[in-house]
Amino acid sequence: LDGSLPIISDPETEAALREAARIIRDTDDTVAFPTETVYGLGGSSLNDNSVLNIYKAKNRPSDNPLISHISSIDQLNRKIYGDTNVNPSELLKHIPKSYHCLIKTLWPGPLTILLPVPPQSTNTLSKLTTADQPTFAVRIPSNPVARALIALSDTPIAAPSANASTRPSPTLASHVYHDLQGRIPLILDGGACKVGVESTVVDGLCTPPLLLRPGGFTYEEIKNIGGEFWENCKVESTKSVKANEKVRTPGMKYKHYAPSAKVVLLLPSEDKNKEKKLLNFTQLFTKEVNDNPAVKKIAILTTKYLDNIKDSELENSKNYDLIINTLGYSGEEIQANLFAALRQVDEIDKVDLIFVEGIPEEDEGLAVMNRLRKAAANNSIKF
Ligand code: TXA
Ligand code: MG
Repeated sequence: LDGSLPIISDPETEAALREAARIIRDTDDTVAFPTETVYGLGGSSLNDNSVLNIYKAKNRPSDNPLISHISSIDQLNRKIYGDTNVNPSELLKHIPKSYHCLIKTLWPGPLTILLPVPPQSTNTLSKLTTADQPTFAVRIPSNPVARALIALSDTPIAAPSANASTRPSPTLASHVYHDLQGRIPLILDGGACKVGVESTVVDGLCTPPLLLRPGGFTYEEIKNIGGEFWENCKVESTKSVKANEKVRTPGMKYKHYAPSAKVVLLLPSEDKNKEKKLLNFTQLFTKEVNDNPAVKKIAILTTKYLDNIKDSELENSKNYDLIINTLGYSGEEIQANLFAALRQVDEIDKVDLIFVEGIPEEDEGLAVMNRLRKAAANNSIKF
């Protein structure tokens, strides 16, 4: 939390970072950059035009507020609260006590907290960043490129995921290029994002506290690490919402993470017999394919039970092309591969139909299934 900077030893990297920082600090433009979760599309949180350009490039509805990314608490105090004389012993003075334990352990990292918007006289945040909510969302990312960019620009960076609105989030620079080429001036390529799903969004301003979006830190971790207050944390994100309903986290009501191909999500049933699962799936598969004669190319993304589907009768059929990819074997692997795997079969292999084998909704499974349910637009069957 002390704001110490990563050391940049490569001159080309430093030049790219300085150029990106200049764009953020001195212009109304945006820059895509890697974080540990997904790539972000960043612009100054303090500048209306930058934020407008983010919404425009992504084609995102402007009532969905953005997360401000900071590189240190010192920067939060100076740049968002306009408080330049904070005594080091009071570093957390603008952050409610309910969060202290959580952020001391989990920042920098994939945790986003809600804070009250500063009083009007001192508030520097663009109204467009917060979409006129009484609270704003903030996090310190752990990715060194992200932190260097925020620190070098010395500007809080508003950044949604750098995908075109409704598409799967980007975990590679090539995903950003695919969606936003010609619409933004610069992409910083930092390789694959390690976590692979967005940050966990929590609200500790209410009692009990709420998990608004499952993400890089699990619900179990938040409850265990946050101290007594967070032991009672409730999951808000599983509620379904209607289009014009007021919600605590506006992102909940939009179409999200969706490939162009139809996605069918397989919900794991209680039955843990591998052969029976494969048989159940074969029946579901056959029905889905027979019902949709236009479907010629099909992907199956497997996790636990369908990893032995290769060499089954499905693979040997001449009636369609079949691509079988595994998402991974642990929750962390599945999470890290999820968006890239969806994009691979959708954008590169161009399949017509994607089956995805879901996992139980515990630990990483909660965030993974939250994304998959949206990708499948609730097209799910028990198997
Ligand atoms: O990992 C991440 O969080 C990535 C990377 C780039 O940092 N960013 C990201 O941003 O996922 P975005 O805009 O795709 O998602 C922000 C989420 C949305 O669900 C939004 O509704 C919620 O945070 N949010 C933002 N401000 C809020 C507020 N004041 N109250 C409630 N929810 C808020
Ligand atoms: Mg997003």
